[in-house]
Amino acid sequence: MSQTNEVGDGVAAQRPMNVVIGVAGGIAAYKACHLVREFTESGANVRLVPTENALEFVGAATFEALSGNPVDTGVFTRVDEVQHVRVGQEADLIVVAPATADLMARIAAGRADDLLTSTILVAMCPVVIAPAMHTEMWLKPATQMNVDTLRTFGYTVLDPAHGRLTGKDTGPGRMLEPAQIAELARTVAATGRITRSLAGKRVLISAGGTQENIDPVRYIGNRSSGKQGFALAEVAAQRGAEVTIVAGNTAELNTPAGAEIVRVRSTREMEAAMQERADDADLIIMTAAVADYRPEHEADSKLKKGSADDALSTIRLVENPDILKGLVDKRNASGADTVIVGFAAETDNPLEYGRAKLERKGADLLMVNSVAGGKVFGEERNSGWILGADGSETPVQDGSKQVVAVQILDAVERYWDSTLQS
Ligand code: CTP
Repeated sequence: MSQTNEVGDGVAAQRPMNVVIGVAGGIAAYKACHLVREFTESGANVRLVPTENALEFVGAATFEALSGNPVDTGVFTRVDEVQHVRVGQEADLIVVAPATADLMARIAAGRADDLLTSTILVAMCPVVIAPAMHTEMWLKPATQMNVDTLRTFGYTVLDPAHGRLTGKDTGPGRMLEPAQIAELARTVAATGRITRSLAGKRVLISAGGTQENIDPVRYIGNRSSGKQGFALAEVAAQRGAEVTIVAGNTAELNTPAGAEIVRVRSTREMEAAMQERADDADLIIMTAAVADYRPEHEADSKLKKGSADDALSTIRLVENPDILKGLVDKRNASGADTVIVGFAAETDNPLEYGRAKLERKGADLLMVNSVAGGKVFGEERNSGWILGADGSETPVQDGSKQVVAVQILDAVERYWDSTLQS
């Protein structure tokens, strides 16, 4: 991970990004070790700043060895280097993981009584806070008020996951996985803090590829990984939306915090799952790579090579329903104001074909990208254009699929604002 800096002669130079990882005293502190790796492996210079209590869980030697930098907790060590100011001033990004209820209270109160809180108080860079605590503590008014205060101050406080906590109990409060935190933090560094701009909205997203059975062992499918759909779900959930993902076949991906996942296999199953939930949604995004055709007959037993009817060499296909078009028709028939976003991956003439597809399907917005030469499917990055039914054409800057998700959701929010005004 590097940062472009302007140097004296006006030439852009690259230097490693300075990432400070703050660690508070909770059992999830051990996961901070994986978080360090997430950043060091992308070339960042990582400085770990634990609290005294964090060192009850993970030793300073572990953090020093992983980061290659010294580890201090107080403001009275290395005083000659004025660390309590310098670490925060030099940071390009601060990630606090785990953040305990106590640490968030101290930051919200503007305390600067250890190296971590004084670093945060000094810093002008983006700060991403990943809470981890028991459900009861997370839900207490005091904690929620502190979270609101921190968000008002401009910090990105990530919603924790629902899941198994230290003991046998489950509920919201579990820290997000290190890979999720790192990805969200990188997105914040690239696009700015995440606000709760989708609070109260219900978002329904299809992701991955559908598969159509030929017989019990064979199917027709595609190479969609589901990454773009999950990235949209992750960002929408962190913006405060209630998110449901209807997922076909996907790569192994972390569940976005708080999102519900409905697993389906075929196009018709995906259609049914989307139709069932469409009326409740404020926003529907069809990122799924839908199999356009399915075998006319699914064999009950495995088809044999060279059989008399030669069923394997000639498979008759029938067309699948167009899920997106069906959702638009349903919305139009009911008069609902659900915003519907489609995707189009084109190998040729992406803008021309994208515009025609947007009109044919009747969606409000269409993200179109070029997949010439097998690009994008399964890859980490994406780019393209967002076409609007109002004739708009917004370029989507190249970035991680999460950075692209931010641009798509921004376009949706602008669309909402413009349709509300008209
Ligand atoms: N889509 C859908 N149902 C289908 C096919 C596509 O809902 N049977 C959705 C996709 O999820 C995507 C959009 O429609 O949001 C465009 O998908 P694409 O495969 O590009 O469109 P097709 O209509 O299949 O056109 P093409 O002939 O280019 O494949």
